[in-house]
Parts: sequence; C-alpha cells; structure tokens
Amino acid sequence: MKIIGPFSQILTMDNVALKGALQDSDLNVLSNVAVLIENGLIHSVGDFDLLKKDFPNADIEEVQEENVLLPGLIDSHTHICFAGSRAKDYAMRNAGKSYLEIAKEGGGIMDTVRATRRASKEELVSNTLMRLDKQLSNGITTTEVKSGYGLTVADELKMLEAIKEAATKSKSSVISTCLAAHIFPKDFDGSIEQYLQMMVSELFPQLLSKELSCRVDAFIEEEAFNSHNIGPYFDAAKQMGFDITVHADQFHAGGSKVAIEVGAISADHLEASTDQEIMALAESDVIAVALPGASIGLGCAFTPARKLLDAGTCLSIASDWNPGSGPMGDLLTSACVLQTFEKLSNAEVFAAITSRAAAALHLKDRGVISAGYKADLVAFPTADFREILYHQGQMKPAKVWINGASV
Ligand code: NIG
Ligand code: FE
Repeated sequence: MKIIGPFSQILTMDNVALKGALQDSDLNVLSNVAVLIENGLIHSVGDFDLLKKDFPNADIEEVQEENVLLPGLIDSHTHICFAGSRAKDYAMRNAGKSYLEIAKEGGGIMDTVRATRRASKEELVSNTLMRLDKQLSNGITTTEVKSGYGLTVADELKMLEAIKEAATKSKSSVISTCLAAHIFPKDFDGSIEQYLQMMVSELFPQLLSKELSCRVDAFIEEEAFNSHNIGPYFDAAKQMGFDITVHADQFHAGGSKVAIEVGAISADHLEASTDQEIMALAESDVIAVALPGASIGLGCAFTPARKLLDAGTCLSIASDWNPGSGPMGDLLTSACVLQTFEKLSNAEVFAAITSRAAAALHLKDRGVISAGYKADLVAFPTADFREILYHQGQMKPAKVWINGASV
C-alpha cells in the first residue's frame, strides 16, 4: 500500500454527469487530501494524517509543493503511428489550397500512406513510442491510436502490430483502433466496395485472433467513404463485436447520421454539424468528440461544443494528433483553445479529457479518482484547479502516475 499526498486539491471527477452541460460547482473538489493506493488501484481518498494513522504500514510518497491532482488525462482520438511529415500540405493550405483539394490530387492522407508503407515496423514502433512519451509528459496516461495509413491488409496489420508493440514498451495505456476505411487507396485493384469487403473478410478476423484491436473507424466524407458504401463494413464489424467510431461531419454533414444508425460509441470531428445533427446526436447515446487540434491545423471552424453540450450530448475532447490536419498534438492546449472560443466551463473541459473521454473509449476502470479505479493520476503545480486551464496548456504536470507508480 502507498499513500500519496497531501494535495492542495483533488478533482475526483466522481459523480460528474455523463451527458450535458456542466458548471464548475458540479465538480467534487476535495481540499488537503491524499490518496491511498493498493495494487495499482485507488483504495481511498482522505485526510493525509488520518490515512497515515489508519494504514501505518503503507509507504509514503510525500508531495512537497502545492499541487492539484486529477485523473490521468485520456486522449480518445489520435493517429500517432505514422512516418513522414506533411509540412508541405500545411504550407499549401496556408497558400489557399483546401484539405479536400490536396486529397483529390493524390496528396494529403495518401502522402502519409506512402511514407508509412515504406517505413519498417521498427520505425513505426519507435515513432509511436516517442509520441507516447510526449503524451505522458503532458499528463496523458491513456492514448487511443488509429491505423489508417496502411490501407492494404498487410500494411494495416503492420501498423496495428507496431501500435501493439509500442503499447507493451510504453508505460502508458494504448487503445488501438482499425481505420482501414480512412480513404480509398486508388492503387487498389478493384472497387470501393471490394476494398471494404476485403478488409472485412481478410483483416477483421486477424484483428480479433491476434488481439490487435476491438474498435473499427471510418472517415465519412467527400473523397473518402459515404453512408452507402460504408454500411456493410460497419454492419460486419458490429456483428463481429467491434466497437464502432466514426470520423463524422468534418467538412460536410452526413457521418453523424451514420454513427447514430450503426450505434457507434462516438462521432468525432462534427465541425460541420448543424442544429439538425446536434439534436439527433443529443437524442442518441453517441458520444461527440471535438478535435480542436484539427480546426487549428486546418484553420477552420471549431466543433459546436457549446451547442452540443447544451443540447445534452456527452462531449469528449481529443487531440487528433496526426501529420495532416492535427500536427500540434497537444491535448491540453487545444482543449483550452476550444474552451475559450466555445465558452466551456472548467468542469466541461476536465470531464471531456477524463471521465467522458473514458466513456468515449468504453473504459469503465479509469477517468475518475475513486475507490476501485486505476491509479492513473496527474498532478499540476498549483493550489487552484482553475489555474490549469487558465494557462492554456503552458502549465505542465509536476508528476504523473500509472497504476500508482510515478513515471
Ligand atoms: O482526423 N479526417 C481524417 N483523418 C484525420 C486526418 C488524417 C490526415 O490528414 O493524415 C483527421 O483529421
Ligand atoms: Fe482523426
């Protein structure tokens, strides 16, 4: 057993509603408390001196400075397994070309596909590990990582195997997602339908037998897949037991409707969602995932997070770290930027990157500081939790723990 503390404040995120708008008064803020950890899990939260008295044999990890403790941050949407750079796209976009125009000309995502296919698995493992390390130093203890830059059965497998290997080598938790339906690779010898069918019959069974992923994603957009051709792909994935998530409504509305119809866990992006899509999402159990890093990377509108919350959806915020639309790869900074543009409370932002992000990944064992949860924790060097977001990503964690061990 180990006692960590005392902390100036602990934001437990316990009993924070899953859906809808939140105010800071909804947060359970405990003052001058410590955490007792047993076997990597939170045993209890309480007064530092009382815990020491009640558990005299526990090790003590004393925290000297002022600190606010939060559940380890969760980044529910990234593409950090890739090779190469898209600085050229960034310059072209800033010179006036659009993301979809670049894709139409065979660049964009396909550019990263070519670089990722050329890379060895070892190279992909090391690139992913380097980015997971940065995540950890930013207080992110769970990161979702997608494939989608392979787009052949062998290359998708190479990516997902690299993600799995990086996960075993990293201290942080990784949730992998198969994004074989990222874009239709024009070098495929056959139709879009045949491409998707091949992934269903040749890739999906291997994902299960090799335990590479239990989540399937698709990009619904012009230049990618549409509500018609994606149907059999998602239906098959569902039938095989995969959780579904969708890149939806990024430039044009449409994907969120697919997400609702297929019973997806989350619909991610939603920058182009109108009131109609927002209402439909609010009436469903689909979690809305805002990706402000992509809005910043593309210089386009933010996800209507305020409206989504007010309508009653569950909103998670993720970094979307990827070489194309989201090169920044900084969850906290991008969440803070979304906060100020969309007028989100601290409670809404913290929930979006802890408890609600856990829900977006179907994880019930983390995202909250309460008995029985994983002791993945992050401490920020301040006595007032409001300081964390006020510094817009510039306040870095003082300490991060995974399963109760400091990393
Ligand atoms: O979430 N929009 C599709 N996929 C990624 C971008 C991938 C890329 O451009 O490499 C996204 O924005
Ligand atoms: Fe994405």
